Amino acid sequence: MAEFLNGWKRSCMCAEITEDSIGKRVTLMGWVQRTRNMGGIIFVWLRDRSGIVQVVFNSESLDETIYQVGAEVRSEYVVALRGTVQKRDDGAVNENLKTGTIEVLVDEARILNAAETPPIYIEDNAKDNEAVRLKYRYLDLRKPSLQSTLMMRSKTINTIRNYMDSLGFVEVETPILSKSTPEGARDFLVPSRLHRGAFYALPQSPQIYKQLLMVGGIDKYYQVARCFRDEDSRADRQPEFTQLDVEMSFVEPEDVQAVIEGSFQKVFEVIKGIDVPLPLRRMTWKEALANYGSDKPDTRFGMLIQDVTETVKNCGFSVFEQSAKQEDGIVCAIVAQNAAEDMSRRNIDSLVEFVKTYHVKGLAWHGIQPDGSVRSSFAKFLSEEKIEQLNKQLNLQQGDMAFFIADKKITALTAMGQLRLKLGRQLNLIDQDRYDLLWITEFPLLEWNEDNQRYVAAHHPFTSPMNEDFDLMEKHPEKVRAKSYDLVINGIEMGSGSIRIHASDLQERMFQLLGFTHEQAWERFGFLLEAFKYGTPPHGGFAYGIDRLMMVLTGAESLRDVLAFPKVQNASDLMMNTPSSVDPAQLKQLNISLT
Ligand code: AMO
Ligand code: AMP
Repeated sequence: MAEFLNGWKRSCMCAEITEDSIGKRVTLMGWVQRTRNMGGIIFVWLRDRSGIVQVVFNSESLDETIYQVGAEVRSEYVVALRGTVQKRDDGAVNENLKTGTIEVLVDEARILNAAETPPIYIEDNAKDNEAVRLKYRYLDLRKPSLQSTLMMRSKTINTIRNYMDSLGFVEVETPILSKSTPEGARDFLVPSRLHRGAFYALPQSPQIYKQLLMVGGIDKYYQVARCFRDEDSRADRQPEFTQLDVEMSFVEPEDVQAVIEGSFQKVFEVIKGIDVPLPLRRMTWKEALANYGSDKPDTRFGMLIQDVTETVKNCGFSVFEQSAKQEDGIVCAIVAQNAAEDMSRRNIDSLVEFVKTYHVKGLAWHGIQPDGSVRSSFAKFLSEEKIEQLNKQLNLQQGDMAFFIADKKITALTAMGQLRLKLGRQLNLIDQDRYDLLWITEFPLLEWNEDNQRYVAAHHPFTSPMNEDFDLMEKHPEKVRAKSYDLVINGIEMGSGSIRIHASDLQERMFQLLGFTHEQAWERFGFLLEAFKYGTPPHGGFAYGIDRLMMVLTGAESLRDVLAFPKVQNASDLMMNTPSSVDPAQLKQLNISLT
């Protein structure tokens, strides 16, 4: 039977009690973590958001009915207790509890609510299956780790809001019932009841609204914005997620970057007590691809990719020679130091299979054993001199093992980048306590889409080309660089942004490159193009994933661990049991019939 509070007020939270409170009377409310009945004395661990404190029911000093409360309560009962804080005997101190040197001697106790035996253990690191945990997420949320994550998330968002506010940014909420935006994922659609056959789209981001806010003279906008994308979930992708979304007028890339990196500095200072020196390091996209095989390089360890194309051009190994002679071919390599001896044949074979999943044909290897002998998949084809030359270029020392991929440039470098990450983990090269933040700049404006045989915007169609590259737009679209920039932390893409196109002639040229006719462009983005006719300031912005930031700050492996109510891989919510079917009458109202 549930009881009401009847005037009882909590005096403090469980884990706020310290030795300073010894002798004081407290009123506590919370959940029973566990009980230990010693016959005559019952120890109860009481838990709330702050932590756990031990309370003691002693039959000698207690009224029988109150002692009975102690005997009756079970795990997850909700109770209210009053008692006096006392020091524990030396032998009874519990080092593992923050409140381990004290306990509360109960003199009044009430059960506010009973609880059935929970289907999961309310304890960090319990081995319950994740699907069960997510079905009972409200119980899962009682665990200390999730509670501290959510408190940290709240504090992070507050820190960001205060920072943005201090710089004069205005938070503006933009609609959720919206229209398709240009981020390029699939939209979630919402059928309209009043407009037969018409649909809203949930925003993939507030991109168009925030640009319209610049036309509207808001000047400095931000929003903690919910975004929706119907794409396949991954550890770092959820169908709905939160961005810190920013847009500014009269700015160049450096102005936007300064605001954004300042927000990261603040968050790391407040949340982690870590100083992030500014300005952050800048690396061009080209550099990132060449050295790390990725546009989101994990810079916490070395093992940089090296280009050995020139060296192996006429080496005698046909796999290398062919790629080296191709116009956009490359032979690239990485060196795993001191790895030759431990690299079993089986391990190497698994690495070969691994790189093949990134669309390259194979992986060659070449190492020097600690005893000086060569262990190599291709040395037999090469002259002594060539091997010498290669070893020298790679600075290959006794005990080192090098890996090689020959293919088209982007394909080979991308596969090598993945191999680098895999070896970095396998060989424990990554310092897990380090946070490496950096900007990637000068992205290509366009990407070639094989399926549709046309260019698509690498960021989105409103991203401005770099002034230096305007002339290349029609002649060499693939060479045009954008005024866009990504922020990367520890190999994770945290956010993207760009300076937008605010001149209509440039925008028209961009649409032409993307294969839109004038009419198609107007049909899709007409309201924006129309708005741009009436005095649009130069503007640009950025958005970063707050969920991903929380992943980095907590060290979580998945976004599911930093969201209160996440969705699983197949985009369903196991607790609400949704998506789910709806009443036929609702469909009828919406003029929808299911096939
Ligand atoms: P973009 O599409 O790159 O840019 O998204 C910015 C950041 O949002 C986060 N993010 C996600 N987080 C979790 N789950 C997802 N499915 C997901 N998708 C994106 C990432 C990503 O870096 N409007 C532009 C920004 C701009 O140009 O101002 C935009 O949304 O951290
Ligand atoms: P193959 O000619 O396919 O029998 O390959 C000969 C050797 O070269 C094998 O060890 C392959 O793993 C390796 N290899 C094949 N293609 C490539 C490539 N594109 N880059 C690096 N090594 C390769």
